[in-house]
Amino acid sequence: AIAKQAEVRGWQLYLVGGAVRDLLLSGTNNSKQAQSSLPDIDLVVDGFHQTADQAAGVELARSLQQTYPDARLQVHGRFQTAALTWHNHPEFDSLWVDIATARTEFYPYPAANPEVEASSIRQDLYRRDFTINALAIRLTPPRVGEMLDFFGGLLDLKAKQIRVLHANSFIEDPTRIFRAVRFAVRLGFAIDPQTEGYIHHAIASGVYHRIQLEMEKTPALQTRLKQELKYILEAPYWKSAVRLLSDLGAMCCIHSNLHLDDRLWWQLRLVDRWLRRFDTNHTLEQWLVLLEVLLAQLATPDRVKVAENLQLPADSIERLRSLDQIQANLMANLPACFRPSQIYQHLHPYNLPTLTLLAVLMPRHTRRQIWHYLTHLTTVKPPIDGNDLKAMGYKPGKQYKPMLEALLNATLDGEIHDRSQAEAFLQA
Ligand code: CTP
Repeated sequence: AIAKQAEVRGWQLYLVGGAVRDLLLSGTNNSKQAQSSLPDIDLVVDGFHQTADQAAGVELARSLQQTYPDARLQVHGRFQTAALTWHNHPEFDSLWVDIATARTEFYPYPAANPEVEASSIRQDLYRRDFTINALAIRLTPPRVGEMLDFFGGLLDLKAKQIRVLHANSFIEDPTRIFRAVRFAVRLGFAIDPQTEGYIHHAIASGVYHRIQLEMEKTPALQTRLKQELKYILEAPYWKSAVRLLSDLGAMCCIHSNLHLDDRLWWQLRLVDRWLRRFDTNHTLEQWLVLLEVLLAQLATPDRVKVAENLQLPADSIERLRSLDQIQANLMANLPACFRPSQIYQHLHPYNLPTLTLLAVLMPRHTRRQIWHYLTHLTTVKPPIDGNDLKAMGYKPGKQYKPMLEALLNATLDGEIHDRSQAEAFLQA
């Protein structure tokens, strides 16, 4: 339907980006790495809108929405792009179609938002990250289905290579380093040696350092960096990706003082194991806890600043801010705790992400106490609850709380095991 809409206006429409790459990979031995679910669809329309002040892509999206009123339309005016999304659709669950107007991006200074002007498909593809992402399939006549490969993307797909289109790619957009790593690990590709050289050059040029100093001025870059960190840290292949990032010297893109040493590597894997052990229902954003472990290596003001710039959730920022304080507090108290109820009282105020983070940052003895708390102490229930107290004739009210607390402590410390002992405990 959308190709027809483009055709009647005399415009050319193309399928571009990840959908083309994954389509081609799904026909090769790489199919296991290609996405099995419906991919996001990126379309580019090449055509001038003569009369109205809206871009061709926006007009196409609007007319498509008239045909499919259940789609939600978002327009990003400045970049002449529009997105149509369907959620919980009976046929395809969810679908995201992005329609851009063919454009070149002119970077006024490194890592700034691209200025946009209407241009041809070749230039649109030239602004993209890697050759394997710069392939297009024409969707409009006369040559429907034609593959456009201006930069050798097909050869690189065959050779399993991640290659940039030009030497400045990483200077223009440093998040592409993370993308290079993500695609390399996800697809089992190698980063082409010259491209790797460009990565080293970009890092050596200090572009990331400059970006860190100007973080507030580059919110779009921060959003992209956070997105790429999320993709990497939530992927099943996160360990290989983090190692590769470190080998490339790219951890400094998060913060110049961040390095993956043996201890941090151990901490990351331990957190991963703890979360898999304790967050069995996957209610936590596990990638975020891994990121917090990375940031926890930095001095508190630095870690908070990076977390704020990346716009992490408020509770993550708060955790990173208060971590030192909590650690000092526990170090002062936990070593002297021998009764389970004491350990319980000290650890009870903290949630699973905080406890996991504390566990990997603190000495072995404390880690064991936290482990014991999570595996045993949190499962202990007194033999009597509030309903029982009511049935026993205690008048409901404020006094229930200390009574139940005392019961829990006595149960934790093994002083009561059953209901009759609990009743005797209450009478005493
Ligand atoms: N792109 C880019 N530089 C970036 C981000 C994106 O050049 N920093 C381009 C790439 O050509 C990419 C397209 O925008 O193919 C769409 O981006 P995205 O959806 O993030 O990537 P996909 O290739 O679709 O990857 P995925 O399969 O992981 O969604």
